[in-house]
Amino acid sequence: MSSTIIRVVVVGAASAGATAAKSLSQSSSCGSGPGNSKVQVTVVERRDHYFHNIGALHGSVEPTGFLPKLFLPLDRLFESKWGKCPRDKYKSGTSSSSGGGSDTVNEKARGGSDDDGCGDHSVVRGTLTETHPNHIVLDNGQELPFDYLVLATGSDNHSPAKIVSLTREDGIKEIRGFNQELEKASKVLIIGGGAVGVELAGEIATKYGPTSDISGSGGSKAVTLVHGNSKLGASHLNQKFHDDVKAKLEQLGVNVYLNERIIMPPDVKLDNKVCSRIINSISGKEFESDLQILATGNRINTDYMKTLAPTITSKISEKLDSIIPLVDPETNHIRVKPTLQLADPAYPHIFAPGDVNDLPHSEKNAMKAKTQGDTVAKNIKALIDVNYHGLRKSGNIKEANEALEKAALSDWSNFPRNTGMVTVGPNMGSVQFLGWNLTGGFGNFVIRKTKGKDYLLSFFGSTYGYKPDQSK
Ligand SMILES: Cc1cc2nc3c(=O)[nH]c(=O)nc-3n(C[C@H](O)[C@H](O)[C@H](O)COP(=O)(O)OP(=O)(O)OC[C@H]3O[C@@H](n4cnc5c(N)ncnc54)[C@H](O)[C@@H]3O)c2cc1C
Ligand SMILES: *[C@@H]1O[C@H](CO)[C@@H](O)[C@H](O)[C@H]1NC(C)=O
Repeated sequence: MSSTIIRVVVVGAASAGATAAKSLSQSSSCGSGPGNSKVQVTVVERRDHYFHNIGALHGSVEPTGFLPKLFLPLDRLFESKWGKCPRDKYKSGTSSSSGGGSDTVNEKARGGSDDDGCGDHSVVRGTLTETHPNHIVLDNGQELPFDYLVLATGSDNHSPAKIVSLTREDGIKEIRGFNQELEKASKVLIIGGGAVGVELAGEIATKYGPTSDISGSGGSKAVTLVHGNSKLGASHLNQKFHDDVKAKLEQLGVNVYLNERIIMPPDVKLDNKVCSRIINSISGKEFESDLQILATGNRINTDYMKTLAPTITSKISEKLDSIIPLVDPETNHIRVKPTLQLADPAYPHIFAPGDVNDLPHSEKNAMKAKTQGDTVAKNIKALIDVNYHGLRKSGNIKEANEALEKAALSDWSNFPRNTGMVTVGPNMGSVQFLGWNLTGGFGNFVIRKTKGKDYLLSFFGSTYGYKPDQSK
């Protein structure tokens, strides 16, 4: 008995993508669609693992015990304790090696053969380079057709907040290399006091700062954090939060400078290597240091969108129409609707959850990426229920549009709003929850009970089927 395969391709296996993929693979009766159809989920990920970047900065001061736990393999992504496809039902799939570094990373992630009622899900290693309306292209030339596409490629950041390396082995080397430079340094300058800069300053000061109990070679390190405005930690939170972050950094001996804009030396490329430098700010201050670390914002991964043509225009004047791009030209974010579908009505079958989309900064973090992944899975199921893909494929535009209208799509609901959490080392930090200021000792208590405990590794790791200590 042959069945129709509904192909869902998910690119990016971090909070947003892994959540969407897992949820779709576990939809009713192991991913079966209406009639005699089956949902087949293919995850594309450029890395050979999920890197839990929430713990990266702690990992960069704890490079032996903690760091290796941050890399979780993708081979158990489609397993579930509660799903209908327990692991022992899996047949080992065939690894379809296609060369060029892009092959099926794991056989066990394949949900068995086509006829065991469990779909045929897989994880493919590769980098998305081109997006087209009905297929994508990877860096090795491989083409993957899709009925529904989830773009969850997130953002890159300066090392060590996010790594450049694509393998676990190189990633561990990358952060250990950073730690070796840090060990050698005596005056550390961190440029940028958003969440990443604050958390890095907190980790370094806790481990090596003037109030730490480090002694002997290297001695304790001076840590200086320079921020361009007055909102430390996360710009959308309350002033009470920012003040609390500052007080806690200073308690650890960090020298905090607000409203100081650094003049980046034009001929210098900061590479996290020890080097004595004096760097100036616009106001004329001089910052002397022997290790300079950039913590100045992220870069959104959307290069692969250039091949997808925008189809809507807006009137600039009576005579002039301008095309509305799919990607915000200033920020590189993909423009989405509240349903997380692309904002362009030509692509209702393409979704973009997580850091990659143009929702406001205050609506971005790993927790929200996860709930956005859930919304995307729900909405794809709703489109499958009305057979949108089938009508689209058969070229039946009118009926496809009617099906779209009928589909029970949900808007992503942003909960909790006005919320954020920044660690200042593992034992301290500031929290705002639904606008409430959890500062002082209470903030520290909440941090110790939540993020400071394991940097949310067991929480996010559960999506991948790993407990923190099993990943090695
Ligand atoms: C140091 C640090 C600390 C943080 N702390 C917290 C915190 O405490 N709590 C919190 O909620 N959030 C925190 N965040 C934010 C959080 O990490 C992000 O919001 C979250 O990771 C976004 O998830 P995502 O799935 O959208 O994208 P990402 O995590 O960026 O993942 C994107 C994935 O796509 C892959 N990818 C990218 N491009 C391609 C391509 N072309 N082809 C194939 N694969 C590709 C990447 O390898 C990656 O696996 C922190 C961030 C940093 C940097
Ligand atoms: C939190 O602090 C801000 C000041 O930054 C204040 O305006 C606000 O009322 C406080 N919120 C609560 C719930 O106390």
